[in-house]
Amino acid sequence: MRMALRFLVPLLLLLGGIAWATTPLLGELIAQWLRADVEMRSQLVFESIQDTVIRNATASDSRRIDGLFQRVARDERLLAVGLCSPEGRLIHRSATWPLTLKCPPGAANGAAFQVEPLNGGTVLSAAFALQEEGARIGDLVIVHDLSFIERRSAKLERYLTVFLAGLGLVVAATTVVVARLARRDWVRAVRRGLAPTARGGTADRSLPADIAPLVREMREMLRNLDVPRGISDAIRVEWTPDTLRSLLKSELPGAEVLVVSNREPYIHNQEGADIRVQRPASGLVTALEPIVRACGGTWIAHGSGSADAATVDRKDHIQVPPESPAYTLRRVWLSDEEQDGYYYGLANEGLWPLCHIVFVRPTFRAADWAQYVAVNRKFADAVVAEAQSPDPVVLVQDYHFALLPKMVRERLPGATVITFWHIPWPNPEVFGICPWREEILQGLLGSSILGFHTQLHCLNFLDSVDRLLECRIDREHGTARTGGRETLVRPYPISIEWPPSALVGQAPVPECRVAVRRGYGVPPAALLAVGVERFDYTKGIVDRFRAVEHLLDRHPEWIGRFSLLQIAAPTRSKLPIYRQTQAEAEAAANAINERFGRGDWRPIVLVARHHEPEQVFTLFRAADLCLVSSLHDGMNLVAKEFVAARDDEDGVLVLSSFAGVSRELSEALIVNPYDHGAMGEAIHRGLLMAPEQRRERMHLMRAMVSENNVYFWAGRMLLEAARLRKRRHIEEQIDRVTAPFGRRPRGTA
Ligand code: F6P
Repeated sequence: MRMALRFLVPLLLLLGGIAWATTPLLGELIAQWLRADVEMRSQLVFESIQDTVIRNATASDSRRIDGLFQRVARDERLLAVGLCSPEGRLIHRSATWPLTLKCPPGAANGAAFQVEPLNGGTVLSAAFALQEEGARIGDLVIVHDLSFIERRSAKLERYLTVFLAGLGLVVAATTVVVARLARRDWVRAVRRGLAPTARGGTADRSLPADIAPLVREMREMLRNLDVPRGISDAIRVEWTPDTLRSLLKSELPGAEVLVVSNREPYIHNQEGADIRVQRPASGLVTALEPIVRACGGTWIAHGSGSADAATVDRKDHIQVPPESPAYTLRRVWLSDEEQDGYYYGLANEGLWPLCHIVFVRPTFRAADWAQYVAVNRKFADAVVAEAQSPDPVVLVQDYHFALLPKMVRERLPGATVITFWHIPWPNPEVFGICPWREEILQGLLGSSILGFHTQLHCLNFLDSVDRLLECRIDREHGTARTGGRETLVRPYPISIEWPPSALVGQAPVPECRVAVRRGYGVPPAALLAVGVERFDYTKGIVDRFRAVEHLLDRHPEWIGRFSLLQIAAPTRSKLPIYRQTQAEAEAAANAINERFGRGDWRPIVLVARHHEPEQVFTLFRAADLCLVSSLHDGMNLVAKEFVAARDDEDGVLVLSSFAGVSRELSEALIVNPYDHGAMGEAIHRGLLMAPEQRRERMHLMRAMVSENNVYFWAGRMLLEAARLRKRRHIEEQIDRVTAPFGRRPRGTA
């Protein structure tokens, strides 16, 4: 008995102390998080609609602004939106605006937040000053219902108090031995309760009754971290560089951003006595560059230009974009031997044909693999050397770096590694032929988040992991757990910047039409189709020539009245299959031109030369139709760029069903590029399409691309990363609480 008392008294004191110290603390912590989150949501909403509100605030027709407020106020926790005059008069409001709510005192400049009781609850009114040409024209007021915060905090405090009291009574009724056993069981039960089951749920039924409330509450804390995902799904804000910047600031404060890709965004080439900067023909660069420009950070890439070494400082750094530096480009140097094995060999003769199912046999050589491993290590060293903090956000790009996520994770365990695979992922049977399949999967599973363009590619990846590794897969939530770590596998369809910078300074469409026809030798009155790609066998370039042949065969009225202008930037020309692809395309174009050409007119104008983004946009604006006939493609951003270039809402897109983008741009004429006849008929239909129908389709496609732009793509991934980081933070706190009783295994990073 004395022994029991000796144990019991300090234990009760300890429990009382824990309850006294942690209960209000945890409640306050949750309240602070949730309130900060609400303020951040207000800020995001404000930034996304402020321009529209300013534009329409003084217009006589108030319907647009009321309609906008109605749409925004549909968000679950957002109570109302209103516009107050500088004198504090309510001018516009959503229908949900509480009648008793007055305009809050505005912010002279910036934002003011006010919490006040309303109708038995509590609301937060966020007032944002609206400025036009330096003058304050009013305040945009966003009202959130805060009562859920009080409910949650109070519930948590109640549960913790009840639990600790219950635990004290249980302990009082047992002996020292039983108490010790109970203590061990308690820890085990908490672990069990928090650990996900094979089906992704939690092991509730096996929990002791007194522990269940605590475990439930802790789980709820973790679930609350889904709020950022809720934001991205529920609030369709207008995604701009500013939205992304403010998201980074509020959700990942102080986070260091490092990007890793093989291709660099700016290539410096020596041309005679001059150094010329080239922007490569790369979907990856097109998408990533605006993001890094908006967020800053360091982009680590292979320095492949002939004047690259001459333009960096002694740390191999150069500030880019050259015209207005916004981030650091760190160049990594590769020997010819490394490039041959890692880039040409394993990446482009092995993984590229493996993942693109276009019936080109992949080649796997052990020597290439050795270089691939070595170069991945070299880039991992560069990441570690560039990282200024122990927990940077590392954005790993593409099939060149399948091993890098695990290598970085081993050396920077606190890093959040977001890997994006820009090409398709094949089914497990196809992927299974790769001799280093396990290593590649394990390497990728070093990522915190692994993104693909489509759900199908995610499922193919999870199936491959399931087939080839010891791993727990949850298809519903898109997770793969191995070695105590979890990787989220999610679809994030990539996109382009909106509005596109290449559109700035473009001539009106009629002028582009005249200039392009003159520049490329197309008759002034001929209808024009364009194709723009790298000379890659996955793009179906010969197939589209065959479609043009079919068109001219079946519909001879187009002879002399239609041309296809095909721009193809030479790529990976060191590899025989790429030289062969180019030779075959040139031969096919010549044969068709010989067969149908008349005088100066040629049905196919093939230009095998790199074009800068502004030149490509001019071509798109000059065209009546754009042809994207990929035989297999992760996304294909050419289709989105064509749509972005057409601010006149004209032009027809003929699009392969085997490009990921066909899931989003369903208003295009969707074709099977292997069926040349059907593709030829689609071109015919596109050339004859009525102007209203062209406009309607283009309008819808532009809405899709503008809304799902590249800032939205990056924003979703970063929000997910922020959620993981907060989750890890909570897990660390739980570890701290349970440390005296034993350690709990870690989950996600
Ligand atoms: O599609 C995969 C990809 O890496 C793209 O991001 C890019 O468009 C293309 O390949 C570029 O290839 P490379 O860098 O080998 O020229």
